[in-house]
Amino acid sequence: MTTLLAGHLLHVPRDPFAAGAAPAGAGALEAVQDGAIAVRDGRIVATGPAGDLRARFPDAPLEQTGGYMLPGLVDGHVHYPQLPVMGVMGLRLLDWLRRRTLPFETRYADADFARAQARTFLGALARNGTTSAMVFGAHQPDAMAAFFEEAAASGLRVTAGLTLGDRELPPALQLPPAEAVRASRELIARWHGRGRLRYAVTPRFAVATSDAMLAACGELLGSHQDLWFTTHLNETPDEIAYVRAAFPAARDYLDAYDRHGLIGPRSVLAHDVHPAERELARLGESRAVVCHCPGSNQFIGSGLFPMRRHLAHGVRLMLGSDVGGGPGFGMPGEARTAYQTQMLLGEEGAPLDAERLLWLLTAGGAAALGLSDQVGDLSPGKEADLVVLRPPAHGTLAARLQHAVDAEDALAALLALSSEADVARTLVAGETVWDARTAGAGEVAPPA
Ligand code: GUN
Ligand code: ZN
Repeated sequence: MTTLLAGHLLHVPRDPFAAGAAPAGAGALEAVQDGAIAVRDGRIVATGPAGDLRARFPDAPLEQTGGYMLPGLVDGHVHYPQLPVMGVMGLRLLDWLRRRTLPFETRYADADFARAQARTFLGALARNGTTSAMVFGAHQPDAMAAFFEEAAASGLRVTAGLTLGDRELPPALQLPPAEAVRASRELIARWHGRGRLRYAVTPRFAVATSDAMLAACGELLGSHQDLWFTTHLNETPDEIAYVRAAFPAARDYLDAYDRHGLIGPRSVLAHDVHPAERELARLGESRAVVCHCPGSNQFIGSGLFPMRRHLAHGVRLMLGSDVGGGPGFGMPGEARTAYQTQMLLGEEGAPLDAERLLWLLTAGGAAALGLSDQVGDLSPGKEADLVVLRPPAHGTLAARLQHAVDAEDALAALLALSSEADVARTLVAGETVWDARTAGAGEVAPPA
């Protein structure tokens, strides 16, 4: 059966960065005011003005969403165990990890707690319009088994893996390399390629992993087809100094991973705020992805991301929330902070605009995660992953949108001003995974 969903459509099917660093206006934004999408068996079969689709599918039920319909949002780096440490103030990365985050992550040894947190976490993605994510896992195999079960039930497109470390972590979070390989293999056999789930080999960062552990990661990656790889890279100067001392044979931080065959087109490296030129050249040549997490970089004070240098080396980019280092799950908020970061860099910043930002959150993110064949824009043939943004009628964003001069201006306002409260509905392959009208809207959680 075909159904029609109507609203204002905004999507960016073509890469606006391909036009080079022109200040604005690559002309890649495709917008249809009073548009509609025809969906059959979870796939988009037509996209266009609502009147045209109504005539083409006269018997199809039409649902008026009353909002802006965008492709489902993609979060390239978000930590499953960290929602409860969001917004912790006064600590930079290594102290934030030692004092608050790593001690909290030991609680995922309790599998019931882990499962409940997995549900809350996946719910937070859906209610923020995120439909695809590279999720950084927990250190406990049982916590990851529970996470994958909940992720399968959520319907979301999730790539994730057991987080690995064998030093500089609380003992309860460490696994020796042989154990890490055994536990990872079990999870891979059960979950990789199942439905919308995929597995990512996930060493925490070079600080927390011995050479032997990174070699074990290389062994894992080589042993299964199409596995993903994710970790952290070049986030803060003190972390980089530690890695330099701990890996004297590596040319630089990236090389600590690269020497073990961990860097390629299915590698997603979070942050890279402080890269060397050699690392940028190698990232570009290897087709690895850098996931820029601007909210986290500002909140825990890691620095201002050199996007222009990444673009100059042809490095593939996406955006991530890095919850709980980042202060929110909302990917529009990350787009806004990415914009602000590049503005603060002045002449050295990359020129960003609404269409480039939406591309990073949707088609660009999908390309980075190898999902371009399935999702990323609203073109016929794609699976119907959508977010409906419908700001409350009497709020600031609705008042601003009334004065939008064109579609790009409306999109800029949505990216700059929208929040979780504006996400009316989220769909994956045509199925609703979040609906503000029915999913516990108005419930208030009791204080802990
Ligand atoms: N590096 C190692 N672990 C983490 C983490 O949990 N968050 C961030 N932002 N960086 C890390
Ligand atoms: Zn992170």
